[in-house]
Amino acid sequence: MPLVVVGSVNADILLSGIARLPSAGETVAATTLAHQFGGKGANQAAVAASIGADVTLIAAVGADAAGDAALDDLRGLGVDTGFVRRSATSPTGTAVVAVDAHGENLIVIAPGANAEVDGADAGRVLARGRGIVLACLEIPLAAVLSWARAARAAGWTLVLNPAPAPVEPLSAELLGLVDVLVPNEHEFAQLSGAEGLFAAGVGAVVVTRGARGALVRTSHRSAERTAFPVAARDTTGAGDAFCAGLATALAEGLDLYEAVDVAAACGALATRGPGARGSLPTRREVDALLAGERS
Ligand code: RIB
Ligand code: NA
Repeated sequence: MPLVVVGSVNADILLSGIARLPSAGETVAATTLAHQFGGKGANQAAVAASIGADVTLIAAVGADAAGDAALDDLRGLGVDTGFVRRSATSPTGTAVVAVDAHGENLIVIAPGANAEVDGADAGRVLARGRGIVLACLEIPLAAVLSWARAARAAGWTLVLNPAPAPVEPLSAELLGLVDVLVPNEHEFAQLSGAEGLFAAGVGAVVVTRGARGALVRTSHRSAERTAFPVAARDTTGAGDAFCAGLATALAEGLDLYEAVDVAAACGALATRGPGARGSLPTRREVDALLAGERS
């Protein structure tokens, strides 16, 4: 089945090798500066395409060089960018990603054109068959809600990565349209707790917990998925890769628990390289990790 990723595109400015992340008023030095493609939506689409998904990205970039480069990169990976809007007035979103010596990060974003993503194309894009919609919160909530409504109406499965953590609680209407919610622990703590989420209509909750793996909760079952042991260098983008793996596996028809295995493999592989895009997992690598575990 096809996968539609609704999300953000950013140009990442990656500052790494920082001894300790700064607190307010502090200045610290990084050892390395790099420019990378980023944005949760673009990262998710890139990983999904890299492991073999049929992906369309819904996003907005500026009419600038950063937008051209981001779209060229995504097309090169096989992502359909035909619905990505070029803003006449806003620049491509930009993120400053600071990473410390332990691979922990701190991110500041200027959304730019990401603020212009809307639901205008939802009906048309989802009219063709059934599939999976994967959305994040780096775009306007109104856009996420439009795609969620359209997904439900057209019979598509909605996977929502509530990242970054929303400032306002998510509406009962939006939660009621979510089939699989994928927060990290910090985002999960800001939600109403698993029982409240199920009461609102969420189908399943998968909480990502970094090196401690993931928790899979449905209204009648709770399971733990351990993390694959990898030497993590930079956890930036691990959540995006996890969501991409989950959505891709669901699009292939795997059940939730099998999909979480693929997700955990993608998340682990994404921590090997610098920034969000320094180590895109390939299908062969994902399959090798899964086979190693089952043998
Ligand atoms: O999840 C990592 C991403 O968050 C980075 O690529 C950055 O652009 C921010 O969107
Ligand atoms: Na990484």
